[in-house]
Amino acid sequence: MKKLLDLISEEMGRAFEAAGYGNELGRATLSNRPDLCEYQCNGAMAGAKVYKKAPIVIAQDVAARLSESRVFSEVNAVPPGFLNLKVKEDFLTEYIREMASAKKFGVNTPENPKKIMIDYGGPNVAKPLHVGHLRSAVIGESIKRIARFMGHEVIGDIHMGDWGLQMGLVIYELQQRQPQLPYFDDSFEGEYPDEAPFTISELEEIYPAASAKSKEDPVYKEKAMEATFKLQSGVRGYRALWNHILQVSVADLKRNYENLNVEFDLWKGESDVQALIPDMVDYMKEEGYAYISEGALVVDVKEETDTKEIPPCMILKSDGASLYNTTDLATILERMNQYHPDKIIYLTDKRQDLYFEQVFRCARKTKLVQPETQLLHIGFGTVNGKDGKPYKTRQGGVPRLEDLIAEIQEEMLRKIKENSKAKGYEVEEDEAVRTSRIVGLAAIKYGDLSNQPAKDYIFDIDRFTSFEGDTGPYVLYTIVRIKSILAKYKEQGGHLEDLTLQNAQNESEKALVMELARFNAAMEAAYEESAPNKVCAYIYELANEFNRFYHETKIISEEDAQKKAGWIALLVLTRDILEACIEVLGFKAPERM
Ligand code: ARG
Repeated sequence: MKKLLDLISEEMGRAFEAAGYGNELGRATLSNRPDLCEYQCNGAMAGAKVYKKAPIVIAQDVAARLSESRVFSEVNAVPPGFLNLKVKEDFLTEYIREMASAKKFGVNTPENPKKIMIDYGGPNVAKPLHVGHLRSAVIGESIKRIARFMGHEVIGDIHMGDWGLQMGLVIYELQQRQPQLPYFDDSFEGEYPDEAPFTISELEEIYPAASAKSKEDPVYKEKAMEATFKLQSGVRGYRALWNHILQVSVADLKRNYENLNVEFDLWKGESDVQALIPDMVDYMKEEGYAYISEGALVVDVKEETDTKEIPPCMILKSDGASLYNTTDLATILERMNQYHPDKIIYLTDKRQDLYFEQVFRCARKTKLVQPETQLLHIGFGTVNGKDGKPYKTRQGGVPRLEDLIAEIQEEMLRKIKENSKAKGYEVEEDEAVRTSRIVGLAAIKYGDLSNQPAKDYIFDIDRFTSFEGDTGPYVLYTIVRIKSILAKYKEQGGHLEDLTLQNAQNESEKALVMELARFNAAMEAAYEESAPNKVCAYIYELANEFNRFYHETKIISEEDAQKKAGWIALLVLTRDILEACIEVLGFKAPERM
């Protein structure tokens, strides 16, 4: 379905043409003076130079051609040459009727869907999830859902950090604590136990302990590196132990991501591509891309147009060890071979901007990807506390994801109970807890997604959980409000099927209808710019327009049945569009709150 603004622009373009001017001058925009008009077109201003005429003359010529327009009820040429437009009710009604019956509300799906891989989440095995991982998961999940909604094929990959020194540290610390385990006995030839010799909470305590020791004690660190090396060269007991670490961690990660309503298609990790590295390195050497510099193997990636220094991409360290880059390059190789994506999107902290620039340049230069393959890194900002510094727990530590969620849900529970009391009903504890989980997740996700990804934001529990303002709970509250009106309508014997949208009766209703009609433009922009914040901005406006209409209209007590049914149809469409939007943002609405 064409976007409303395009239909409006086309109608304007035809009028410009009929009056003897260029069609392209018809480009219309949403009015920035809603008190004067709904849309506006500044084409006459732009045409003045070309046609050597006063802009107002051109505007008047064009307006004269639109007196019979089926799109506009009003076209005013105003000095110095603006065209102020109002849309006809019939045209608008026809448009949203088509939207309501179309698949996905008439959003334009592509003829040739793209295959997109999204690398997000990026948790590190054996380390607890922290607030940075929250942003990667929340934004990545939404970008994935938006792209799917737009009709593309999307594969989400968690890309775990499951290789390298962190694993060696855990293994060495375990050896210190439980040296009698068969995994450390080189002469052991039997079957290793099925059960891991630790639980997840032990594991989460082991890593920080080991990491702290290695920072203080060079010998300890040396031993951990040795354990890493033994693991990587395939020592049987070390591999078995590593499998246990992976299994215990993944089970815990799955639970965590499930609570966040985040789902990955692939649970691959850094370890999965290690076997590809030797051949990849040989290839880079043989083709002359990689050379030895100060003992290390590097690929130059600087370009003439660079304004800042872009250091070479290091492929192997001087001791022959591979690096984070090497693994990422091998992962690109594997993804291209196995899935042939048109585009790969990465979500990490923006401090990795330069890193990904190097990796992408290296992948292009060494032809690991096709020239047309898109590689995109979306670097996100930091989650700050009210003091503007990275968010800390009350105890002053880096907050774990679980604590963060618990803090929000606790506050949400308090507000839900308070709200129900204010409205004169008592919620059951069970229901209140269930609702606070649903709404709390929306509060966190919306609080994050409503910002441009690259921006830092303040983790403000009080604001995020508020039922008013630009928040998740406000949007959910609006949906719940609509649901309750629809339920009342049904109680009165009304049916929600076979309703027909009617022409808007007043200004607030028309404003709501026009906001609904913007849906496909908003979703398309969110997809194209990988910007879930555009969906948030859209639903915030939509919820505002709905609430304005709601406060000015007595729906349930309306006597004229046809009028009432038309409004109910409008409510159904508003609910459906709001729900489609929160679905792509990755959260849901409760039945009541
Ligand atoms: N594990 C990494 C971290 O915690 C993030 C991985 C991001 N993805 C990637 N392909 N490098 O920082």
